[in-house]
Amino acid sequence: MSRIEKVVVKPTYSPEYSVIIGEEVLEKVPEIITREVQQSPDKVVIFVQEPVNKLDLFTSLVENMRETYDTYVIDVPPGEEAKSLNYVLEYVRYLHNIQATRATLIIGVGGGALGDVVGFLSSIYLRGLPLVLVPTTLLSMVDSSIGGKNAINLFNIKNVLGTFYQPKLVIEDLRFLDTLPERELRSGLAEVVKYGVTINPTIVKIVETNFKKILSRDRDVLIDLVKLSVECKAWIVHLDEREEKDVRQVLNYGHTVGHGIEAAAKGALTHGECVMIGMLIESDLGIRLGYTDRSVWSKLLEISTNIGLPSKIPKDVDKNEILKKIEYDKKRVGTIIKLPIVHRLGEFEIVRIEVSKLISYLDNILDEYYEK
Ligand SMILES: NC(=O)c1ccc[n+]([C@@H]2O[C@H](COP(=O)([O-])OP(=O)(O)OC[C@H]3O[C@@H](n4cnc5c(N)ncnc54)[C@H](O)[C@@H]3O)[C@@H](O)[C@H]2O)c1
Repeated sequence: MSRIEKVVVKPTYSPEYSVIIGEEVLEKVPEIITREVQQSPDKVVIFVQEPVNKLDLFTSLVENMRETYDTYVIDVPPGEEAKSLNYVLEYVRYLHNIQATRATLIIGVGGGALGDVVGFLSSIYLRGLPLVLVPTTLLSMVDSSIGGKNAINLFNIKNVLGTFYQPKLVIEDLRFLDTLPERELRSGLAEVVKYGVTINPTIVKIVETNFKKILSRDRDVLIDLVKLSVECKAWIVHLDEREEKDVRQVLNYGHTVGHGIEAAAKGALTHGECVMIGMLIESDLGIRLGYTDRSVWSKLLEISTNIGLPSKIPKDVDKNEILKKIEYDKKRVGTIIKLPIVHRLGEFEIVRIEVSKLISYLDNILDEYYEK
């Protein structure tokens, strides 16, 4: 019997929805949709990210859907390229041409970038079409497909246009992770570790004792980790769906410094790699400010080594650029920035810190985190 788990997301304002996690879930998609999505669709439009569109798993999903629904399929380019107004307009035209109505179900199959553009499109077309997300990367399974945030890029500004729009259902078939490039898998693990360090230390325990199994894509361990991570994200979305309270800031652990490194590295490092280095530096900062127990930093270092994520910044990434990016972080309000700090594993607090003080601390700390 294949294993299937379910987590129910109960956002602060929007209707609740299920996240179905397991293996061999795709075969059951028509039946899960009938059970979980109230309105019966007049047609189904599947947006699929390349190269996921070439996978047998995806082809059989489409065959399956065609047996039950009038089904259309659109290929979407990989990565950030798709997160643009040009593609949104192209997809709006397509939906208009096939006479999509408010009863047309949109399904997005792919990583976080695909989820962002399809989520945005679904939220604006006819003021909202029902949306089902089928994430295919570890990051999108544990993070971006839950919570209803979406965004596209414009004028070279990342995520500048977006809406909050919850899906009706999320279906996570872990077999998709079998084809995911190893670097993408490791990067997704950084977000998993973030949930463990900030909210649920059981995740840290599983990662540290099973890192070899995780990297060899052991289905059972990955299902455990994805489920526990989705529960963390669901808890935050329940407390603070629209980012109106401080608590959602915890999801940014490691991201203030991480985003600075990511921008300055200009594509040389993945998001997850930067978040891992960011968590190490922010926990170091927490120690110096008297908030964080040293064991948090040691655990992060041990895990980064075991799962093969970097703990140092490459030599050619400019320190001043990192600091400049952090200084103008979007979480800044006036001269203050809200920073999630971890006391001990699973115990966090959102602290307010003067940006100038943060920058002067980081100016010193960053030197210790450069590759020799
Ligand atoms: N909306 C949110 O809450 C939220 C949260 C975090 C990140 N994001 C966004 O998510 C994006 C990053 O997401 P991502 O890391 O999933 O990257 P991605 O969507 O760019 O996918 C990474 C790469 O993996 C490929 N891929 C996807 N699934 C695959 C599979 N099963 N097998 C082989 N290849 C596969 C993709 O084609 C792509 O080339 C960013 O745009 C970021 O802004 C959004």
